[in-house]
Amino acid sequence: MVDRWVQDHQRDSWRKQAKASGYRARSAFKLKQIQDRHKLIEAEDSVLDVGCHPGGWAQVAVELVGEKGKVVGVDLKSCVPVEGANLIIGDITDPFAQQTVLDAIDTEVIDVIISDISPNITGKWDIDQAVSLMLVADVFDFALPILKYGGHFVTKLFQGVGVEEMIELVRPHFQTVKRFSPMASRNSSSEVYLVCKFHTPKRGPDWHIRPAFEYALENRKGGPEPLDEVEPAKSTFSVRKKSSLNE
Ligand SMILES: C[S@@+](CC[C@H](N)C(=O)[O-])C[C@H]1O[C@@H](n2cnc3c(N)ncnc32)[C@H](O)[C@@H]1O
Repeated sequence: MVDRWVQDHQRDSWRKQAKASGYRARSAFKLKQIQDRHKLIEAEDSVLDVGCHPGGWAQVAVELVGEKGKVVGVDLKSCVPVEGANLIIGDITDPFAQQTVLDAIDTEVIDVIISDISPNITGKWDIDQAVSLMLVADVFDFALPILKYGGHFVTKLFQGVGVEEMIELVRPHFQTVKRFSPMASRNSSSEVYLVCKFHTPKRGPDWHIRPAFEYALENRKGGPEPLDEVEPAKSTFSVRKKSSLNE
């Protein structure tokens, strides 16, 4: 109960900080903390923001790339415009929406892909977690061919069955693949970010992640998932507990 109170309090605190800083969502701080630690986005970069609603990450990305950079976002839901970003309504798994995104990017390759994509939560954890991983696989398949050599990719994952398989499949496409848990998402159940740096494009017909991921899942041995080693973010945030818990 105390843990729950602390979690709610922390979430509220990030929300308040987001509002005070002019960000639309506390998720903006997640990207800021990922950026502080991993330095993914540089001035003048082109960035694709997958699952961009309501636009918190897009706001941060626009600040980072500056006036000479480019930010294109895509989401099933429409966003209030973010100055300096082109936010498209569409399903990233739909070829029509994919073409619209490619047209908006309008360059051959993109520097950084940031994906905070998360499916509609049904409340059935196993299903939500599995659907989320399939979506992540689809995002990789769409985005890897347009990510530049040496480019970076960050995506949200929900820990659970299949995460190890996903990481093994993605690893050959990058020099480094690490899990990172920003302070701003510490209290969000099993959410973690996979930070993939320095794209090393894989050639050949079998590079697609989704079919290989489905195959790996079908052929995985039973048993519990190993505990994940998540790199923690440094804490600069403290919470003073109130004496009353009835709030
Ligand atoms: C956690 S929210 C993203 C928050 C965002 N990063 C921000 O800072 O404002 C996840 C988003 O993924 C979107 N999403 C889920 N499935 C999608 C799909 N197939 N194509 C595009 N967006 C999708 C949802 O609509 C939702 O808005």
